[in-house]
Amino acid sequence: MRDAPKAYIKTYGCQMNVYDSERIADVLVQDGYQLVEDPSDADLTVLNTCHIREKAAEKVYSELGRLRVLQDKRGSDGKPMKIAVAGCVAQAEGDEMLRRARNVDVVVGPQAYQDLPQMLKVPSGKAVGQDFSPEQKFSALKKAGLQRPSPPTGFLTIQEGCDKFCTFCVVPYTRGAEFSRPEVEILQEARDLVSRGARDITLLGQNVNAYHGEASSGDTQSLAGLLYALADIDGLERLRYTTSHPRDMDEDLIRAHGEIAQLMPYLHLPVQSGSDAILKRMNRKHGRERYFEIVDALREARPDLALSSDLIVGFPGETDEDFADTMDLVERVTYAQCYSFKYSPRPGTPGADMEDQVPEPVKAERLAALQSLLNSQQIAFNQAMEGRVMPVLFERLGKFSDQVIGRSPYMQAVHVRLAPGEDPKALIGHIRDCEILQSGPNSLSGQLLQQDAVALA
Ligand code: 5AD
Ligand code: SF4
Repeated sequence: MRDAPKAYIKTYGCQMNVYDSERIADVLVQDGYQLVEDPSDADLTVLNTCHIREKAAEKVYSELGRLRVLQDKRGSDGKPMKIAVAGCVAQAEGDEMLRRARNVDVVVGPQAYQDLPQMLKVPSGKAVGQDFSPEQKFSALKKAGLQRPSPPTGFLTIQEGCDKFCTFCVVPYTRGAEFSRPEVEILQEARDLVSRGARDITLLGQNVNAYHGEASSGDTQSLAGLLYALADIDGLERLRYTTSHPRDMDEDLIRAHGEIAQLMPYLHLPVQSGSDAILKRMNRKHGRERYFEIVDALREARPDLALSSDLIVGFPGETDEDFADTMDLVERVTYAQCYSFKYSPRPGTPGADMEDQVPEPVKAERLAALQSLLNSQQIAFNQAMEGRVMPVLFERLGKFSDQVIGRSPYMQAVHVRLAPGEDPKALIGHIRDCEILQSGPNSLSGQLLQQDAVALA
């Protein structure tokens, strides 16, 4: 019998791409592929690309150049390797990619990868899939089904695309218009993920809180309604959702944070800037006061809620006063963790053509000041955990034989060393109370509470 063909998948970018790579893996496994961790073993390499950063396409072309060396080596050993480029760069480049990188066989956008097995078999050997049909994609993926165990922390895409058109962002062009999956399909996939080992599920969407899918009853379901329905699934112990837009943070959703115990007290709510003038130029459709109101309402509903955000410095026209407003907003809100970026003009977006582009050294200086403030907030947030007892969902083994690593409700990595004789593997997939002993900028360390150690033995 012939060995199963081997596939290697490399993922760049956001959690939506992590989810997509999982589904690409399911589609390939269903078609007879075996997944491998090393591209030199692979008959097929899939690059699942991200377009959000500057020069994203150029970086993919460089990676393809490096892969050519491996491809040539495998080719001379009589073991050719195909390459498929998936994701947002594939969507943006299309045919152009086949012309510029002759070693690419298939180019497939984020709405068409269910067709990857067929595309790999076309007689000409070259195929491009850039269809924008999330309906077809999700129904084909549903048929393929989940094929592999889930890690304790799973992802579930419930919504794709974006109609907001922030003036700095390529997403509406690469991921297309907003689409929400029907509630029944999401509930089924969540049950399936739980039966395969997921305990903590993050619902994903570029604009996840704009979710408005078909409800099981036939009406339209909101994200809040969906969260209440998901909370009824046995064994689904933690729920999260990302990424949200302040504009779609409605009353029901805010109330859900106070009412659904499984909904973790941690929310990513990008603000991008603290200046009303810049928020307007960014077409964010909310001002700073509205953002403060939302944060206050959330904290009233769920007093232990912690927030994270995305921030951009140096958007065209940003003055020193505008930047001071961003620093002030960050001080007032106080974040547990944040992603911060220098604005980079993305061709085809309105921001790229705006006047008053901010000089690079000014952007760099502002980013350094902002990051220093954000780092101090993150360190303080982690330090406040010391001495506390918190439930930790264990995910993976650590680098020491007695170590196991999990996640706190706030997504912090928690490193735990076990007593002699305790088996770290037995903890994976379980939530246990841990006392936090020490904090660092990016992780915590702790110990199991004593009764848990005994109960496990
Ligand atoms: N320049 C800088 N940052 C950007 N982001 C998106 N587009 C740009 C850009 N052109 C950031 C935003 C977004 C995050 C995913 O990436 O903060 O929320
Ligand atoms: Fe991009 Fe704005 Fe849509 Fe988020 S809401 S994906 S930043 S356009």
